[in-house]
Amino acid sequence: MSLKITLYGHSALDVETGGKHLLVDPFFSGNPAASVGSDRVPADYILVSHGHYDHIGDTIEIAKRTGAEVISNFEIIGWLEKQGLKKTHPQHIGGGHNYPFGYLKLTLALHGSQLPDGSDGGNPAGFLLTTTEGKKVYMAGDTGLFGDMRLIGEEGLDLAIIPIGDNYTMGPADALRAVKMLMPKHVIPIHYNTWELIAQDPVPWALQVEVETGTQVHLLKPGESVTI
Ligand code: NI
Ligand code: MN
Repeated sequence: MSLKITLYGHSALDVETGGKHLLVDPFFSGNPAASVGSDRVPADYILVSHGHYDHIGDTIEIAKRTGAEVISNFEIIGWLEKQGLKKTHPQHIGGGHNYPFGYLKLTLALHGSQLPDGSDGGNPAGFLLTTTEGKKVYMAGDTGLFGDMRLIGEEGLDLAIIPIGDNYTMGPADALRAVKMLMPKHVIPIHYNTWELIAQDPVPWALQVEVETGTQVHLLKPGESVTI
């Protein structure tokens, strides 16, 4: 069984595992990089890393259309429930839960999490997923570099999905240091080239990662997929 990752653009991803679609940070409306409209994407679960509009995105609309269960931190889930969502699951950093698709843990992220209306979105998070087939995937969310990425790396990652855009998150140099701590078999860079402010050429970064680490880089354009 396989793990298929599709990048929809920016940080919006489809993680397909065990026949389930996990839609991560579903930002489509107003996303200049979006490869598809929010009305077209499948979702059995929606994972929201933090409250910023470019991550919570079209969560409410897609959850209502698909009936997907939304997973995020306690504060964001409370806010979504106030908007009428009922199929929800709150977690928090360090805590994991078993779902039909695998075991999902929320991890530290160094960032903000204010919701679009100014409400408190709690602490931002990343996700550490152990699929029911035993693959380990770390999705960093929006974050700066932090040394405890070593602890996440100790889990033995098959794949890490990390930001490289700079300005709001790690840039390429810190993302290279992150790969060295995470030591994943594969890495997918995200959160770049959506706007001029986070423009990056990922090709030299990918070459440097592959020269200096044992990690294989997958550069996905919006709409492209990779199976791992
Ligand atoms: Ni953010
Ligand atoms: Mn962001």
